[in-house]
Amino acid sequence: METRKLIIDTDPGIDDAAAITILLSEPSLDVKLIASVSGNVGIEHTTNNALKLLTFLNKDIPVAKGAAAPLLRDNRFATNAHGKSGMGGFEFPEPKKELLLEENAVMSEYRTLMASEEKMTILTLGPLTNIALLISTFPEVKEKIEEIIMMGGSTERGNIGIYGEFNVTIDPEAAKMVFRSGIPITMVGLDIGRKARLMVEDLEELEKSGEVGTMISSLFRSYDGGHVEEGVKMYDPSAAMYLMEPELFETKEAFIDVEIFSPLTIGATVVDYDGTLSETKNAAVCVDVDVDRFRKRYVQRVADTKR
Ligand code: BDR
Ligand code: CA
Repeated sequence: METRKLIIDTDPGIDDAAAITILLSEPSLDVKLIASVSGNVGIEHTTNNALKLLTFLNKDIPVAKGAAAPLLRDNRFATNAHGKSGMGGFEFPEPKKELLLEENAVMSEYRTLMASEEKMTILTLGPLTNIALLISTFPEVKEKIEEIIMMGGSTERGNIGIYGEFNVTIDPEAAKMVFRSGIPITMVGLDIGRKARLMVEDLEELEKSGEVGTMISSLFRSYDGGHVEEGVKMYDPSAAMYLMEPELFETKEAFIDVEIFSPLTIGATVVDYDGTLSETKNAAVCVDVDVDRFRKRYVQRVADTKR
């Protein structure tokens, strides 16, 4: 079987863990590296959480520790949604520290990309700090990147500002650099994750499906204040699912840029579909998702994941 080589850049994070889990059991993907970044919680926690998840799932994938803060701005964490350690709600085993590389994320991403004969895909589930540093330090890697699939931004309203989505707003300069890089990008924004919700009956299915499903359900039951009756918003899992089953989504080409100056709209992703700004289109953006199929496929993928 032809496999697609993947780097995951992430700030785990409850929904990051829920995304990574289904990616690691997809046979057509070859996950070469998981890079951590500061975001939902600090870098020590996000790195440790990646290691804990891999240890629980019995997957020996190298982890590289990434940026400890945004390029220009101070850290702002999302412990309200993810718990103090970033993956509250489930007792993970002690992490296997030997999976942690000595090299930092930017160097590991560079080395992994340059060593690959074919182009690789990068999936970003956190702030874009590592990727901005990677492409500004080693612009030659752009040739090695097939595409960046990004959970970030919004075509509608935000979650950390009126228009600002967390991953983009935490490090808006980094996100701007990535959108301007010329690398093919697909943005899976907040509006898609808000639509693609798992309902309580889906969590019950997950619980019945075994240990992995119980882990995901326990995390989700403590996620974002635990309001599971309203459904669990599937931000990072939507981007993961787009990577594996793009037919569940509708996309549109657009020019996308990030607001970095205005205190009122900092981090807003400006999505121009119609050429109003006379700029060349630089991304595809998800504009719709088949929610029923998404829910079924997500639950099935977790059920199929064995430790
Ligand atoms: C994004 O922010 C984080 O809290 C989630 O993990 C997701 O990546 C949603 O705005
Ligand atoms: Ca995330």
